[in-house]
Amino acid sequence: MPCWKRIAAPLLAALAFPLAAGASDLPPWSERVLGTLLDLEAVAGLPMQERIEALRARGERLFIGQFLVEEGAGRPMATQAIIPTKRRRPPPQRFQRLAGLDAGACASCHHEPVIGGGASFTANVFVSEGFESADFDTIDPQFSNERGSPALQGAGLIELLAREMTADLQRQRDEALATARRTGAPAVADLVAKGVSFGRIAADPDGGLDVSAIDGIDADLVLRPFSQKGVFGSLRQFTVNALNHHHGIQAVERFGATWTGTRDFDEDGVEDEISAADVTALVVWQATLPAPSRKDDLPDAWRQASERGEDLFADIGCTSCHIPALPLASAVFRDPGPIETAGTLREADVEAPLEIDLAALDFVKALPRDAEGNILVPLYGDLKRHRIADARDPTLGNELLGQRFVDRDVFLTAELWGVGSTAPYGHRADLTSLDEVIRAHAGAARPAREAYEALADDGRQAIIAFLRTLEISR
Ligand code: HEC
Ligand code: HEC
Repeated sequence: MPCWKRIAAPLLAALAFPLAAGASDLPPWSERVLGTLLDLEAVAGLPMQERIEALRARGERLFIGQFLVEEGAGRPMATQAIIPTKRRRPPPQRFQRLAGLDAGACASCHHEPVIGGGASFTANVFVSEGFESADFDTIDPQFSNERGSPALQGAGLIELLAREMTADLQRQRDEALATARRTGAPAVADLVAKGVSFGRIAADPDGGLDVSAIDGIDADLVLRPFSQKGVFGSLRQFTVNALNHHHGIQAVERFGATWTGTRDFDEDGVEDEISAADVTALVVWQATLPAPSRKDDLPDAWRQASERGEDLFADIGCTSCHIPALPLASAVFRDPGPIETAGTLREADVEAPLEIDLAALDFVKALPRDAEGNILVPLYGDLKRHRIADARDPTLGNELLGQRFVDRDVFLTAELWGVGSTAPYGHRADLTSLDEVIRAHAGAARPAREAYEALADDGRQAIIAFLRTLEISR
C-alpha cells in the first residue's frame, strides 16, 4: 500500500517555503502554477484555522492558475478518459474545444459570479466517457453530452451530506441482509436517507440482493452528488478527472507508476505532474467555498413577493425534489473520503486522512441547526436522480448518450441555492430564464410543472421573486 510518504515523495523533499503564501521559492513573476510542492504533513499539524488557510491559499493558486506545458499541461498520448487510456497518435493541435484540452485553468469555466462559480454557455464541456471517441470534432450529440458549468459554492457540505446518506442507505441494506439471514426468509427494506426515499431493496437469506426497485441512486447505494448527472462521488475524484480532461495535468494517484507503470503516462516529457498533496489542496479549496446564501436587502415589494413565492414553491410540489434543507450531523471533512475507489487516493493509502472542520468556517457557523444539533444545509435539492423529460416535452431529454448506466433523460435534482446568480439554466446552459427552465420540467416533475403553469401570472412571478433571492455572494 502506498502511503502519503510514498505517493508524495517528491513533495516531501521540498519542504521549506512559507505555508500561508501557498506559493514557492520561484521568483514572484514566475508563470508556473505548480511550483514548489506542498508539505502536507506540516500543514496537517497546524491548528484548524491555519490549516484551512494554508490549504486554501495553495488550492486557489491551483484553481486559478493557467497550467504551463513545461509543468505538464497537455496529454499528447493520453485521452480525456477517466481510466488512463492511451491515444493511438498525438492530436493535431494541443487545444481542441470539444475533446480537450479545452481550457487553461479550472477558473476558465468556474468564475460567475465569483471564482468557483459557474459560467455561461461559452464554457460548456463536451462530456464523453472518452474510451471510443477520443478524437471527436463535432458537437453532434451522438459523440458527447454537452453540459454547462455548475457553481461549486457549498460543494463541501454537499459531499458531506452524500457521505452520511450513503452510510445510512448501506446500513439499511446490511440490516436487511442480516434479517434475511437470521429469519431464513426474504427481507425487504425501504431505503430512506435524511427523509429522501430511494426505493426499496430485497435481501435473500443466501445473501442475494434484488435491486430492481432502487430509485434515483446506483445499485451500490453510493450517493454520487457531482456532475449534473449525479455520477461522481467526490470532489477528489472529480478533480482528478477534470485535471486530466481539461488541462492534461495527470495526477500521480491515478496516472502515476502505481497504476500505469510509468511516471509520464501522457508522454509529454513531464513526470509526476500533480501530487496527492496538491490535489488535496484543490479539494479543500472547493470544499470550503462559502455556500450560497439568501439575499436580505430586499425592497418591500420584492420581499412580499418572495415570501408568497416561497409558500407557493412548497404548495405546488417543487419542494418534493428541491427540499429546502437537509440535516448534516458532522461538518468534519476527511480527505481522502470514505468512498474513493482505485485511481483516486483512498483512506487505505494514507496513515490518516486529513481533517478539515467546516464548522470552523463563518458561513457554516451562520447556518441554523435543528433540535438534534444537525446543521441545516439549505441546498434546495434531494441529491437524487429523476426522469426529467417525457415524450410530450423532450427539452431536458436532449442527450443521446447514457452515462454510467444512467438513462439519457435522468438527471440529478439541481441544487437551487445560488440559482439567482447562475443564469443560464438547465444542464446544457441553454435556457435563458427561470420561467423557461421551470416550464421545461417534464417526466417525474410534470405535475409540479403543470401546477406552475396553472398559476396566475402573479403567482409565477412570486416564485421567480423567491428563486432570485437565492444567491452566491460576490
Ligand atoms: C471547460 C470548462 C471547465 C473547466 C476548465 C473545468 N470545469 Fe469543472 N465543470 C464544468 C462543467 C461543464 C461541469 C458539469 C459536468 C457535468 O455535469 O457532467 C463541471 C463540473 C465540475 C464539478 C462538479 C460540480 C457539481 O456540483 O456537479 C467539479 C467539482 C468541478 N467541475 C471542478 C473542476 C476543477 C477542479 C477544475 C480544474 C481542474 C475544473 N472543474 C475545470 C466545466 C469546466
Ligand atoms: C421530480 C423532481 C423535481 C421537481 C418536482 C421539480 N424539479 Fe426543478 N429540477 C429537477 C431536476 C432533475 C433539475 C435538473 C434539470 C436539468 O438541467 O437536467 C431541475 C432544475 C431546476 C431548475 C434549474 C436549475 C439550474 O441551475 O439550471 C430550476 C430553476 C428548478 N428546477 C425549479 C423548479 C420549480 C420552480 C419547481 C416546481 C414547479 C421544480 N423545479 C420542481 C427536479 C425537479
